[in-house]
Amino acid sequence: MDERDAVMRTHRATEITVGEIGQRVTIAGWVQRRRDHGGITFLDIRDASGIVQVVADPEDHEAVGDIKMEFCVSVAGTVRARPEGTENPDLPTGQIEIGAEEIVVLSAAGTLPFMIDDRVEVDERVRLQYRYLDLRRPRMAANLKARSGATAAIRRTLDEAGFLEVETPTLINSTPEGARDVLVPSRLRTGEFYALPQSPQLFKQLLMIAGVERYFQIARCYRDEDFRSDRQLEFTQLDLEGAFWDRDDVLDVIESVLVAVAKELRGVDVPRPFPRLTWHEAMNRYGSDKPDIRFGMEIVDLSLVFAESEFGVFKDAIEAGGTVRGINAGTREWSRSRADALTDRAKEFGAKGLVWMVVEDDGSLRSPIAKFLSDPELGEIKRAFSAGPGNVLLLAADTWKTTVTVLGGLRLELGRPANHDELEFLWVVDFPLFEEGEDGSITFSHHPFTSPKSLDDMRERPREAISNAYDAVLNGIELGSGSVRIHDPDVQREVFEILGIDPDTAEKRFGWFLEALRYGTPPHAGFAFGVDRLVMALQNESSIREVIPFPKTQTGLDPMTGAPTWVDDAQLEELGIELTSDSEARREELEA
Ligand code: AMO
Ligand code: AMP
Repeated sequence: MDERDAVMRTHRATEITVGEIGQRVTIAGWVQRRRDHGGITFLDIRDASGIVQVVADPEDHEAVGDIKMEFCVSVAGTVRARPEGTENPDLPTGQIEIGAEEIVVLSAAGTLPFMIDDRVEVDERVRLQYRYLDLRRPRMAANLKARSGATAAIRRTLDEAGFLEVETPTLINSTPEGARDVLVPSRLRTGEFYALPQSPQLFKQLLMIAGVERYFQIARCYRDEDFRSDRQLEFTQLDLEGAFWDRDDVLDVIESVLVAVAKELRGVDVPRPFPRLTWHEAMNRYGSDKPDIRFGMEIVDLSLVFAESEFGVFKDAIEAGGTVRGINAGTREWSRSRADALTDRAKEFGAKGLVWMVVEDDGSLRSPIAKFLSDPELGEIKRAFSAGPGNVLLLAADTWKTTVTVLGGLRLELGRPANHDELEFLWVVDFPLFEEGEDGSITFSHHPFTSPKSLDDMRERPREAISNAYDAVLNGIELGSGSVRIHDPDVQREVFEILGIDPDTAEKRFGWFLEALRYGTPPHAGFAFGVDRLVMALQNESSIREVIPFPKTQTGLDPMTGAPTWVDDAQLEELGIELTSDSEARREELEA
């Protein structure tokens, strides 16, 4: 036996080029396509590298008759140039083909639930049920590869910068990141539960106390929150922390990582440093703490123009301490129904109403409130918006926060590019330290371990205090967040108290952490970004499910394995858990 025949294959599909013409090769892969033409069979064989064409005469090969799509086969044969006029310039192997000498079916395939083809639309539930087939599609295979490239670039960059990769536990005590915990019952200690980490936040801070100085981890995190296109129950962070660090050290290293990943996946050199906006500026200009700066349509303040307006709604809003703002939506089709639809959208974003204006060719304004506008106001409005004929102007009046949020929402709806061809990274810095709940209570805005910019402000005006927290944003997607941390246990106690966690509860829940802070904690700062979200944008996908190998549906289900599932009564008993009558009823219903 030829020594070569002992190996399952000699080449990967795309390694076979004009240089191999005349050579005998063996390949193995899946049948992407079969065409029968004038007594000859053409097979496109796909492996992880790509596709190569095999030509077989069915008379010579009994196996060929049975071969259907997605059969797993091996082919031995000789490489030859394709006949003139039959080359395929779209394929790297498009100049050659393999004349089959031996074809072996390694494994047959049943009838496929869908075609292994990017162009075929398939219901997502079916895709997830047969994810192993879905992942055979070129786009999904490319996403898996990109993800691996991203984590390799992250590791390479941070390794060169002297970071230590440290794993932290996933069966832990709750970490307060603002979502609901995923709980795991303990068998040895019945009635007690572990929480899966919402992030490695406290462990990375402990590593700073432990003297690690430069830590990173590609960490799996778990948050029981509402699923969206950019949220999953489990997701992956690049988590990072440094001691003797201030904000700019973090921004610098995170930029270098993001730039390396963009280079790896897109081959582009993203310019550094990334632009920076304060939170206030971002809200003011874009109505969002994760502004998409790929397009303008910035929010314009018109409060001065309307301070004495005849239009009561605007005047009243300003007198009540609010504001009138607007955006120039540019030249676009405008109609009554379009206006009504946008007004409804504005109301969904929290507006009380929406005023529209269209600049006519003669410079006048067509608007439901035209009769309230004086000539000087008209001029000032057009100036403020730099508005020209055909432009549609949209105005809202309310509190500052509501006005900018509404206009920010409309701005995205009207202007957001549909793809991620262009990449605009930026930093949003100086976030508020706390957020006000609807009931007036105070909650943390990043997490409770974030340090305030000024202790005095935190004590005297907590609702206005600014934190040392910052976000990285790409094309309007929140990629990640971080902060300079509190490293003084007394300050940490104070923050818990402002958050309404009484000292006893703080001691019970975080006593162990407050204790750790007592032993010479270095000043430290860090960051975490969502690897799924970054890869999603760089791969031009609109959902993180497209870049997660085995994601869950919007309702937390894995249609392939059926998780989550009921467990045996014996298992529950061991864990000291009894189902409520409601859960029992559901179980019986599902089992019936
Ligand atoms: P944060 O809670 O902002 O910060 O999370 C950081 C980033 O993780 C990603 N992310 C998610 N991705 C997918 N699905 C989810 N459910 C999900 N939740 C979060 C986002 C987000 O920006 N410990 C802090 C970081 C720090 O302070 O160092 C933290 O976890 O991209
Ligand atoms: P009304 O007087 O409530 O009928 O509103 C007259 C017009 O002003 C309608 O087009 C409303 O959509 C709009 N409008 C009402 N309240 C606001 C507001 N707070 N901001 C912007 N437009 C508003």
